[in-house]
Amino acid sequence: MTAPAPLSFAATDLDALAGLEGHVAVIVDREGKLDPAGRRVNRLTRGAVERVVADAAFAKMKAGDVRELAYPSGMAADAVQIVRLDAKATAGDARKAGASIARAAGSKPVTILAGKARHAADLALGALLRGYDYRDQKTAQADDAKADRRITVMAADPDALSAAAADHAALAEGVFFTRDLVNAPANVLTTTAFARRLSELEELGLDVEVLEEDDLAELGMRTLLAVGQGSASPSKVVVMRWDGGGDAAPLALVGKGVVFDTGGISIKPAAGMEEMTMDMGGAGTVAGVMKTLALRKAAANVVGLVGIVENMPGPNATRPGDVVVSMKGDTVEIINTDAEGRLVLCDVMWYAQERFKPAAMIDLATLTGAIVIALGHENAGVFSNDDALCDAFLSAARAEDEGAWRMPLGEAYADQLKSRIADVKNVGGRPAGSVTAAEFLHRFVKDGTPWMHLDIAGVASTSSDSRYAPKGASGWGVRALDRLVRDRFEG
Ligand code: BES
Ligand code: MN
Ligand code: ZN
Repeated sequence: MTAPAPLSFAATDLDALAGLEGHVAVIVDREGKLDPAGRRVNRLTRGAVERVVADAAFAKMKAGDVRELAYPSGMAADAVQIVRLDAKATAGDARKAGASIARAAGSKPVTILAGKARHAADLALGALLRGYDYRDQKTAQADDAKADRRITVMAADPDALSAAAADHAALAEGVFFTRDLVNAPANVLTTTAFARRLSELEELGLDVEVLEEDDLAELGMRTLLAVGQGSASPSKVVVMRWDGGGDAAPLALVGKGVVFDTGGISIKPAAGMEEMTMDMGGAGTVAGVMKTLALRKAAANVVGLVGIVENMPGPNATRPGDVVVSMKGDTVEIINTDAEGRLVLCDVMWYAQERFKPAAMIDLATLTGAIVIALGHENAGVFSNDDALCDAFLSAARAEDEGAWRMPLGEAYADQLKSRIADVKNVGGRPAGSVTAAEFLHRFVKDGTPWMHLDIAGVASTSSDSRYAPKGASGWGVRALDRLVRDRFEG
């Protein structure tokens, strides 16, 4: 388990600056004006801070950029970071700055001299998020003992800040939970281990229920079971409830939790197959959001439902051409066993609507390679039957700096899924692959349910560092969905 760095807030103590260890971050606005802490660091370093600010390169720095003075004489610190953050900076700029600070500090402790800077709590959040480091599968090294990622924010009003930062800490915990789940290899995060990790959320006051294969068979979730039946690991559905909103109808979050996707009998090529350990990213994101909501005691009713399966070939595996009856009752011709995510989701979505009559339903899935071709790793694909829900989400995602781009739905796309022998088939050919996948899901949305589908195949895990995460699992969506809950479902 990766815990966010210990974070504390303290009153600015000018006389302590010379002796601080690790990294010390000085905030400088566009005019290059230094606050009292900045002036003290400048004096200790005999004017080095002012020299950085006077350099032509400073004018080119963007809000949130950092330059580093290594091993400054006159201070115990290993480095002074000069952080460009204007007086009128937005919360987003402050988060960027915090992320840059944490990236530069690595595994060293850092003291951020925030003074009277606006959005200092967001500085801390950016630093917390970027400080993630997945080490669960590494044997401990001697230098691990020296790693000390403590973050201290020195500010004029530390008490007000630490109150504002409490919700941010809940957010960081949720994001880290998602990243840990998504980064975990499939032999470690088996279906059973995944369900166990989710059950542990009960400690936070969530109500967690695990449905086993017998329960799923009784409910008629045959398309979900068809995906998991080639694996030795049992399929499960986990239901997580947070009831903080009285008797309002809940928001339902539904996640694809394929712990490993070999493609099944329609097996994937070897190159890159190891990446399919992240194919439970939708479920991981739902879990992270639920954790954050519980930690910050959100005043909303939200139910998270995840379908947890492993897609393997085997003597009992589903064959291409098999026809399976979904919980809804529609028959599905499974043309390609690698289009398995939609088979998992359609049953869980139907169950979510039957049981919870949700006010809105959002599903998340690493659903298609086609969305990666369309949008790359910058934006998740957003599909929706409800403009108000969709617009609210898009603006939440923008505010949280999480890329999201609306894609179309349409009957002509749904027509690509017509089957000769069954009600529908599970693939619609190469054109618009992410849209036909969304249209498959659309078929399992009841009239009158506002619904949004997020295809996160390109954003759940990335092969290079991003602003708020090192390479690997990003935790995309936890922040935007938490904000959507605040904006639309709390009240
Ligand atoms: N899990 C994959 C989609 C995926 C691709 C996720 C790349 C993350 C990165 C999904 O189950 C899948 O295999 N989709 C197929 C669908 C096709 C058979 C219609 C695909 O995209 O190729
Ligand atoms: Mn697949
Ligand atoms: Zn998959």
